[in-house]
Amino acid sequence: MATIILGIETSCDDTAAAVLVDGKLCANIVSQQLEHQAHGGVIPELASRAHVQRIVPVVEAALSKANIDKKDLTAVAYTQGPGLLGSLLVGNAFSKSLALALAIPLIAVHHMQAHLLVHFIDDDYPTPAFPFLGLTVSGGHTQLVQVDGAATFTVLGQTKDDAAGEAFDKTGKMLGLPYPAGPLMDKYAKKGKAKFSFGKPTVEGLDFSFSGLKTSVLYYLREQQDKDSKFIEKNLYDLCASVQKAIVDILMEKVVKALAKTGLNQLVLGGGVSANSELRKALENTTSNVFLPPLPYTTDNAAMIAMAGHLKLKENKIDSLESESKARIPI
Ligand code: KG4
Ligand code: ZN
Repeated sequence: MATIILGIETSCDDTAAAVLVDGKLCANIVSQQLEHQAHGGVIPELASRAHVQRIVPVVEAALSKANIDKKDLTAVAYTQGPGLLGSLLVGNAFSKSLALALAIPLIAVHHMQAHLLVHFIDDDYPTPAFPFLGLTVSGGHTQLVQVDGAATFTVLGQTKDDAAGEAFDKTGKMLGLPYPAGPLMDKYAKKGKAKFSFGKPTVEGLDFSFSGLKTSVLYYLREQQDKDSKFIEKNLYDLCASVQKAIVDILMEKVVKALAKTGLNQLVLGGGVSANSELRKALENTTSNVFLPPLPYTTDNAAMIAMAGHLKLKENKIDSLESESKARIPI
């Protein structure tokens, strides 16, 4: 009998559902909540209300696209955390109700683990083998992890302050870019040259820091704007290229160190910032054994939740109907 997993993702501002049949993706529906853009960031209250409105139509669209009847589902996998609690609770309550009604297993998935496990989807892209070195880079996380199995993650290093995505979004805001600034910064950087340099962090071991870069960009812009009020406008593309390079350099320094220290020979990238073209290029130039997620799997999606659920189910890691949502949860 086929293993059919329904994945549900509601950790932030995307309401998503996916259907995975024997590890093959049959539907991957994402409803992006564009209403946050006007506010310059995600408004938690708006996000949870939007999830409540969209969760049923999004799940129905996924089942219909996959041509799967609810009663044929093997299990429901949902994002347990980390994320916005109000958003997570919508996915939790929905998934539990469905699992209860259908009398099928419920599987709680860690959002950042799923960003790395998405590489196991049975498609045309190469799949890593355990153990591997994982780099997670998103709006809320930046970590280097050793991954020994579908549920065995060891943190080797992480950010001491802002996440890489946050660094893109906050410096982008200083440059007048709309939220989230990462994708636009990437696009503009292609038209510019990284001719400005900013202070480098000095952080021990495999940890990261991005707050110094943010301050350095802020002071540099203030100084230049005092001399020329149109400085940003005149240098936008070069500023984007320079900030992007600084962020990628910070990440790469620790990736190189981690590969050498652990002796792991596969590097797996995951999280929203994995869409960044400069980071992808830098990683490809560093090691031949790098696994970059296909672009549709870089931002938040439920395909990765379904895949993580599929792997956990294989290891019989099923959760109780009392499992809680967690805004913070170690990987
Ligand atoms: O994983 P994700 O979709 O949501 C979180 O779990 O946080 O990541 C969102 C982050 C945002 O900070 C966004 O600016 C960043 O990913 N991002 C990018 C790019 N695309 C998305 N950052 C740099 N370059 C990109 N192309
Ligand atoms: Zn994410």
